[in-house]
Amino acid sequence: MVKVILHGCNGRMGQMLSTLIEADEEMTVVAGIEPSGEAKNEYPVYKNFDELKDGADVIIDFSTASAMDGLLTYCEKTHTPLVLCSTGLSDAQLDRVEKLAKESAVLISANMSLGINVLLKLLKNVTKTLYGNGFDIEIAEKHHNQKLDAPSGTALALADVMKDELDDISYNLNRTEVRKKRDRNEIGISSVRGGTIVGEHDVIFAGTDEVIEIRHTAYSRAVFAKGAMSAAKFLKGKKAGKYDMSDVIG
Ligand SMILES: NC(=O)c1ccc[n+]([C@@H]2O[C@H](COP(=O)([O-])OP(=O)(O)OC[C@H]3O[C@@H](n4cnc5c(N)ncnc54)[C@H](O)[C@@H]3O)[C@@H](O)[C@H]2O)c1
Repeated sequence: MVKVILHGCNGRMGQMLSTLIEADEEMTVVAGIEPSGEAKNEYPVYKNFDELKDGADVIIDFSTASAMDGLLTYCEKTHTPLVLCSTGLSDAQLDRVEKLAKESAVLISANMSLGINVLLKLLKNVTKTLYGNGFDIEIAEKHHNQKLDAPSGTALALADVMKDELDDISYNLNRTEVRKKRDRNEIGISSVRGGTIVGEHDVIFAGTDEVIEIRHTAYSRAVFAKGAMSAAKFLKGKKAGKYDMSDVIG
């Protein structure tokens, strides 16, 4: 049985996980952390880690960047394996995650879905050939109107995997301020926010007289929750290190 603490348990993702874990015979939520302290499920909810009574095998985090300090301090103290899913972390927070991963197991991924993680692998294989043959690269992402960060962590992860395959690439997140043609070596990233869109990412390779567009659409938050559950099962008992979803899906 994998015992889990849910950090941000009353949010959209926290609640989706609560439902799916309840139906899973191999996992159980032992506690939730949520500033209100309101218990919406069977498990106890604490306002912060100082109030927490018992430990767990793994923490699954779907909270917000401003909640990272309490979470990371607890993990630094207890070395509890951490599945870190919140996006929009600062460079300083990411540095702290790197240090934590030297002492305990941390799996960090901006997108826990199987589809996006397969897409990341695909991009590793095709980017060099397409870019080398003159194709421009753009990413367009769409999310619901409650999302705080832009561009999405997933859009940046897609861009990063392509950047790693190429030389001297920069990102253009805003074309409105300078009146000029796009640079050859840029990846443009644009964001749409509205309604209840769960998450849509288009990677566009635009060449001369031909275009390849690869789209991933998440129709339900369940795809992220299921990925986080697989990651938690994978991480239980793992030695210190920084892991990502490619370690889980193989
Ligand atoms: N990696 C992925 O696959 C993936 C998928 C979906 C969402 N996300 C990210 O996960 C995060 C949560 O998404 P959401 O849609 O559930 O957001 P949400 O706003 O619905 O939920 C966040 C929850 O965190 C709680 N919270 C705030 N401060 C806290 C603190 N100090 N301690 C504990 N909990 C705290 C909030 O009260 C809220 O209940 C966002 O950063 C989002 O971008 C990642």
